[in-house]
Amino acid sequence: MEKPAIYFDNAATSWPKPETVYRAAENYLRSGGANPGRSAHARSLASERLLYACRERAAAFLGAEKPECIIYTLNATDSLNMAIKGLLRPGDHVVYSAFEHNSVLRPLFSLRQSGLITTTMVTPIDGDLVEAEAFARALRSETKLLICTHASNVTGRIMPVEKIGRLASEKGIFFLMDAAQTAGVVPLNVQECGAHLVAFTGHKGLLGPPGVGLLYLREGVELKPWREGGTGSRSDEEQQPKFMPDYLEAGTMNTPGIAGLDEGLKFIATTGLEAIRAHELELCGRFLKGLEQIKGVKVFRWTSVSDYVAVISFTLEGMDSGELGYILEEGYGILCRTGLHCAPQAHRAIGTFPAGTVRFSLGYFNTEGEIDYALKALAQIATRFR
Ligand SMILES: Cc1ncc(COP(=O)(O)O)c(C=O)c1O
Repeated sequence: MEKPAIYFDNAATSWPKPETVYRAAENYLRSGGANPGRSAHARSLASERLLYACRERAAAFLGAEKPECIIYTLNATDSLNMAIKGLLRPGDHVVYSAFEHNSVLRPLFSLRQSGLITTTMVTPIDGDLVEAEAFARALRSETKLLICTHASNVTGRIMPVEKIGRLASEKGIFFLMDAAQTAGVVPLNVQECGAHLVAFTGHKGLLGPPGVGLLYLREGVELKPWREGGTGSRSDEEQQPKFMPDYLEAGTMNTPGIAGLDEGLKFIATTGLEAIRAHELELCGRFLKGLEQIKGVKVFRWTSVSDYVAVISFTLEGMDSGELGYILEEGYGILCRTGLHCAPQAHRAIGTFPAGTVRFSLGYFNTEGEIDYALKALAQIATRFR
């Protein structure tokens, strides 16, 4: 078989990006885009307007109360660290799901190791769904925070976040949701899902460049900033300005990244989230149907395609997942991800630890032809190499 480059690693970062995203980031750099909010000259003001326009667009797209509820960060990891380390205080207890990414597991581990917090991890009874009831059972009087990913980056399963949000509200505690795998591909309204804090990354479903993320903070939620410094505002004062977003946005922003992200958001708006979701689900259905015909393939999915984002984990009996990934790339030009996907507890929960799985993550720009080609490649590998 001829060897094209086929990209099935959109859960790690989406590619390609819309043309407008490339152009916006490049134009910003080439046109001498200046530091936003720092100087009074025209280019600095134009950069500031760009930041505001993207913040406004993101807030409207995600259902935030107002643009100031959206904070620019570096990525989802940065947003999650800001939320976890900014909210928790000594003695607090946290309940989190087994499907969290290392960007949740590791900050919790370090706080726990320092003796500052205690934690409880909740696992599925069966399959890959963590029930809101499991969070409820784990609550203690000192529980301050519930953390759940909107969708697993290993199985793709969408979690019952609205129920978890309701539980948090009933108990008067906080809910932090990780929307790294859902923003831009699944309908999401931060107020309706009941989350107090939501972490986003700009470079996956939101189709922006790497190096920019977002953190939603419900109005009134207070975080201790973990980074303080220049904001261009209240420069005469020693303390960090208390108003949002400056309180949490010290330092020069990734303005070319934000210019690209703004175009990613516009692309999603003009294409339509429903159209993006429908295309991805159709490709998933086609791929899953094809995988059923290949002997030795085990897919880690438990219910219907619409309960998932376009992330499909599978193994091929008798073959290490890393080896399969290597053959897919070397023999067929197919790029995917293998191993543990930075989510070791998720693999423990579904029984694939420590070997991991092969993960195909599809995006809006993938085609039926690419799916059919991958299925042929996998069928060949299943017969030739095992
Ligand atoms: C569920 C989940 N959370 C967090 C992250 C971290 O995202 P970033 O690399 O943008 O920090 C990822 C990335 O794969 C993810 O899948």
